[in-house]
Amino acid sequence: MENKHSFFKWKPEYNSGIKPIDEQHQKLVQYIADLYCAVYEGNGAASIYKIIDGLVEYTETHFWFEEDLIEKAGYPDIEEHKKIHKAFVEKISAFQQKSEKKLPITFQLVQFLKDWLVDHILGDDRKYIPYVEKMPKR
Ligand SMILES: [Fe+2]
Repeated sequence: MENKHSFFKWKPEYNSGIKPIDEQHQKLVQYIADLYCAVYEGNGAASIYKIIDGLVEYTETHFWFEEDLIEKAGYPDIEEHKKIHKAFVEKISAFQQKSEKKLPITFQLVQFLKDWLVDHILGDDRKYIPYVEKMPKR
């Protein structure tokens, strides 16, 4: 889906300088932007939950990659970072379960996803950058 709304667009300040991380974060932004479009356009629950399923799956893949990377980089606060990831996955997985009950997905949810991701990228994810930059090869 085209990112035609200005709700959530990638900004240069989101860049970490770690290429795979930035690419994966951009993909997460796209999922949330797509979800916004689908909700805005009043798409059916099936197509909305298809995006949520994709978002949950991709988020898990991204977190695995990131946790593996920061572990290899010797990031000292990895356990705390893993906990933050886990809590987010649990939260978005709970949205998936709403699917079975056919509960509507609201703008509040989409806003929550955006706020969480931006805060995480600009906050917690910033902390491991120096460690990854110091890795001999990546
Ligand atoms: Fe992270």
